Amino acid sequence: MSETIRQVLASESPRPSITVCGWVRTRRDSKACSFLELTDGSCFKGLQVVVDASLPCSNLMPSILTGASVQVEGDLIPSPAAGQRWELQAKNVELLGEADASYPLQKKGHTPEFLRTIAHLRPRTNLFGSVFRVRSRMAFAVHRFFQERGFFYAHTPIITSSDCEGAGEMFRVTTQKPGSNAKPEDDFFGRPTYLTVSGQLQGEAFACALGNIYTFGPTFRAENSNTARHAAEFWMIEPEMAFYDLFADMTLAEENVRYLVQAMMTECPDELEFFNKFVDKELVARLQQTLDKPFERISYTEAVDLLLKSGRSFEHPVVWGEGLQTEHERYIAEEHVKGPVTIYNYPKVIKPFYMRQNDDGRTVAAMDLLVPGIGEIIGGSQREERLDLLQAAMKAQDLDEETYRWYVDLRRYGSVPHAGYGMGFERLLMFVTGVSNIRDVIPFARTPGHAPY
Ligand code: 4AD
Ligand code: MG
Repeated sequence: MSETIRQVLASESPRPSITVCGWVRTRRDSKACSFLELTDGSCFKGLQVVVDASLPCSNLMPSILTGASVQVEGDLIPSPAAGQRWELQAKNVELLGEADASYPLQKKGHTPEFLRTIAHLRPRTNLFGSVFRVRSRMAFAVHRFFQERGFFYAHTPIITSSDCEGAGEMFRVTTQKPGSNAKPEDDFFGRPTYLTVSGQLQGEAFACALGNIYTFGPTFRAENSNTARHAAEFWMIEPEMAFYDLFADMTLAEENVRYLVQAMMTECPDELEFFNKFVDKELVARLQQTLDKPFERISYTEAVDLLLKSGRSFEHPVVWGEGLQTEHERYIAEEHVKGPVTIYNYPKVIKPFYMRQNDDGRTVAAMDLLVPGIGEIIGGSQREERLDLLQAAMKAQDLDEETYRWYVDLRRYGSVPHAGYGMGFERLLMFVTGVSNIRDVIPFARTPGHAPY
């Protein structure tokens, strides 16, 4: 059985006759031997393999080019080279799969833009190998955070007939032929169905039964925004808690972000060092500050005031009653607060029907958590648990009560105060890696006009 490079590099003492498999990053030849730099994706570091020119397998060397896959059997010995503790003194090398000179990753230093065009090969680079190892560890840390707090993982549907955010940005799911005039009643589900934009509504049904739950799954938005922070398919973490109000919701969201930043710092040190060196030199300082300094909270009305008083001329004017634009959010997080900040109590007119109306009659118990460099990574709210107010909000937004009857039932039978939020998993990854484009933290990005895999 072969071992991973991660296991091998953790060895405490020299070990004879071990087997390692991986891909060749580079090969260098001298008279006496060849050096292969081998990676297998198991960790950031590679393993140096020394192949003596006297070995029978050394005649394979000319055909072992960058990108080839090999299996090496040999002795793990202390390395005389600087910067590495171990190297593998080969006894036998087997070529598993050749790669010729057309292999696109011949040299280092390709731009992320170019690497996006070869999304099937980019995980083999230092940058993307690191991003996707971090992605996996962060996903596990997300589950740990909620499971440690007694939350249950609920699987909400991916195909749905409700538009949670009411923004109409949904992808239709149908088996009807293009151009068909057939009625929705004759379609597969007997009604119009879509890919979900959020698991929240079904999550609420589960919170109103199991107490504290979370969903963590793919969500889809057909919004035509070609920005560095939007994807048409992304993963969202959505906790929903019975008996929570907006402030308890904000506290959990802050703890959630902190916990994941801490996980990044303690569980991905090699990747963090790499990102800090080559992607964003402020990264470690910013993450450390996230752990050290309490997050601020500012009401929407205060936020509008401070933007108006900032003396800045923004591209989009600041008007009470309108949404905050990215430039506004970034000003608040990056220049005013200089750290993570939650903005809460937004105007009712710009928010979905399910948010709880505040006593002032014009704001709702909504919150967005903003971080420097990105803006919004979490959006959430306390939900409207009062039947009459929910029905009025649905009417005001022209929602068909029949479609949402089951949701309204949650207010008819044992209604409770409850709250929740959605954290964009890719935005969180951008925050903890310093990677500035969402296309570079998701394995195969889907954006307007782009779904090649
Ligand atoms: O603010 P949003 O739209 O909130 C909801 O969907 C609520 N139903 C969540 C809830 O209360 N359970 O989305 C939540 C988060 C955003 O803060 C952002 O991080 C991420 O999801 N997000 C996107 N990420 C990538 N690409 C997109 N197109 C995104 N849209 C939202
Ligand atoms: Mg939002």
